[in-house]
Amino acid sequence: MNKNLLSIEDVSADDIAAFFATATEMHDVQNRSVKKLPALRGRTVVNLFFEDSTRTRSSFEIAGKWLSADVINVSAKGSSVSKGESLRDTVLTVAAMGVDGLVIRHMASGAAKQVSEWTDAVVINAGDGTHEHPTQALLDAYTLQRRLGSLEGRHVVIVGDLTHSRVFRSNVLCLAKLGAEVTVVAPPTLMPSGIVAWSKDAGFATSYDFDDVLPKADAVMMLRVQRERMNGAYFPSAREYTVGYGLTRDRLAVLKPDAPICHPGPMNRGLEIAADAADAAQSAVLDQVSAGVAIRMSVLYHLLAGEGGQA
Ligand code: NCD
Repeated sequence: MNKNLLSIEDVSADDIAAFFATATEMHDVQNRSVKKLPALRGRTVVNLFFEDSTRTRSSFEIAGKWLSADVINVSAKGSSVSKGESLRDTVLTVAAMGVDGLVIRHMASGAAKQVSEWTDAVVINAGDGTHEHPTQALLDAYTLQRRLGSLEGRHVVIVGDLTHSRVFRSNVLCLAKLGAEVTVVAPPTLMPSGIVAWSKDAGFATSYDFDDVLPKADAVMMLRVQRERMNGAYFPSAREYTVGYGLTRDRLAVLKPDAPICHPGPMNRGLEIAADAADAAQSAVLDQVSAGVAIRMSVLYHLLAGEGGQA
C-alpha cells in the first residue's frame, strides 16, 4: 500500500479489499454506544480544507476522533489563507507543528500530490479540483458492494456533470478495479473533452441518452450540477437539464426496483434528482454517508496506525 492516498490510480484491487475489510469492522464500531478505538492515540491529523464541505470534512473528523487521534480543522476562511498565505507556506507551517496526517481539499487539480512533495506527513486527498476524490470512490463502491454483493459484471451508470466531477474520475477507476461495467451519461456540453480516448483506455462506456441506459442499470449514481465551477451556460435551462438527465419520478419507475440510487451529496433536489428518487426505499444516499465514516476510519487506520502508532 502507498504511503499517501492521492489517487485511485495508485490503489490496487488488494488495497481496496483491505480498505473494505477494515471498514466493515469500523462500521460495527459506529453502531456501538461507545465509539472509540485506541488505534491512533498520540497521532495528530489536520483537515486542511480550502473548499466548502459538509460530509467529507466532518466524516474525516469523526473518523479520526473515533480512532483516538487528535484532529484539528483548518479552513481557508478563518485562517491566514485569507490573508494571502501561499499553499506551500500554510502546509509547511502546519507540518512544522509535527502533524502525522494531512487531509487536504483544494480547488486546484494536483494540489494533494504537490503537498505530498512538501511534507513527510501522510497526505490524503479529500478532493483536488476536478481531478480526484479517492475516499468518495471507495465509500461509493463499498456501499454498492454491501447492497449488491460482488460488483464483478454489475452495470453501474454514472450520470451528470462529468466535466466538473472529481467523484466520477475516481469512481470509474475504482469500479473498473472491482470488475464492474460502467456507463457514464451526460449532455454533450458536460462530457469532458478527450473522454472517448480515455474511456477506451479505462474500459467504460459513454452515452448521451439516459433513457436508453437506465433500464439496464444495476445501480445509478447521480452527480451534482456544479454551478460554482461553471463560468457560462452549459445547458439552456434547469428544466431542460432535468428533462434530459434528471432522475425524475418517471425514470424511477423504469429503474430496476433493487438498483441502489447513489448521490455523493450535496444534492440539488428537483434538478439532477427528484425528491421521490432521493428518498426512495432503494436510495443509498444516507448509507453512503455512514459508509463514509467507516471508510475514512479504515483509510486513516491503514495509513497512520503503522510504525510509531499504537495499533
Ligand atoms: C463531492 C465533492 O466535493 O467532490 N461531494 C462530496 O465530497 N460529498 C461532489 C460535489 O460537490 O458535488
